[in-house]
Amino acid sequence: MSGFSSEWLALRAPLDLAARSRAVETAFIEALPKGALRLLDLASGTGSTVEALSSLLDRPVTWQLTDYDPALLQVARERWPESIHIRQIDLQADLEQLPFDEVEAVTTSAFLDLASQDFLERLADKVVATGKPFLASLTYDGRSDFDPGHPTDAELLETLNRHQKSDKGFGPALGPDAATTAVSLFEDRGFQVVSGRSDWQISPKASAFLLEFLGGWLRVGKELNLPDDLLDSWWQDRKERINSGTLAMTVGHIDFVALP
Ligand SMILES: C[S@@+](CC[C@H](N)C(=O)[O-])C[C@H]1O[C@@H](n2cnc3c(N)ncnc32)[C@H](O)[C@@H]1O
Repeated sequence: MSGFSSEWLALRAPLDLAARSRAVETAFIEALPKGALRLLDLASGTGSTVEALSSLLDRPVTWQLTDYDPALLQVARERWPESIHIRQIDLQADLEQLPFDEVEAVTTSAFLDLASQDFLERLADKVVATGKPFLASLTYDGRSDFDPGHPTDAELLETLNRHQKSDKGFGPALGPDAATTAVSLFEDRGFQVVSGRSDWQISPKASAFLLEFLGGWLRVGKELNLPDDLLDSWWQDRKERINSGTLAMTVGHIDFVALP
């Protein structure tokens, strides 16, 4: 339904876990009130935020996971049958219906870059009005580096970043500008923000991930009409390097926590 399969989320999960900014997570955890916690996670997928924070939180947590894809939420339910509640919701249509008042904090990961300026304003308004700490992990920021590089990388990256700004269900997406925009929105509303990089460090061993990830780049290049010969020779080279274990990548992300 959402275009994010549980298989793809599982492939990226180890990179996400390793990349998350410890400094930002620590600032978030230190801002939480004492005692048992209720946390609201937005666009939860299969629950990677639960996985990431569980080992860092030394007290009972009840999670409310939200997503519009019931299949992803069902995977999350099977992973943590005891400690999560799930809610299928289209956040664009119904964000304001969520129980912001009934939780101690709000989290999300790998989501804000899909959203529009208008949606981020609504989100910041809601979080600030209810005075909750807000943790946003792994927002893509437009940087991607290959080792070794290829002459077509830069043009394809520019095309990909343009595609990131197309409508993902919230109006024109902010894509690589989402994290900086969101940080400004929270600061303008009087929240304090701590941010840090959470770049994927993709080693040549992650061949299954790289094939899937760069296959996505190829599809975007074709969709946006880059010349076939350019794309075919790029993909040929990248595939050979992935299969021989000689291609590494860094992909830029930002984590931030916004605090009342
Ligand atoms: C890249 S995935 C991230 C999932 C999870 N937070 C993670 O870090 O693995 C983006 C998620 O946003 C969800 N999503 C996209 N648009 C949505 C919408 N309008 N309402 C609710 N969920 C949405 C997708 O279903 C998907 O699970």
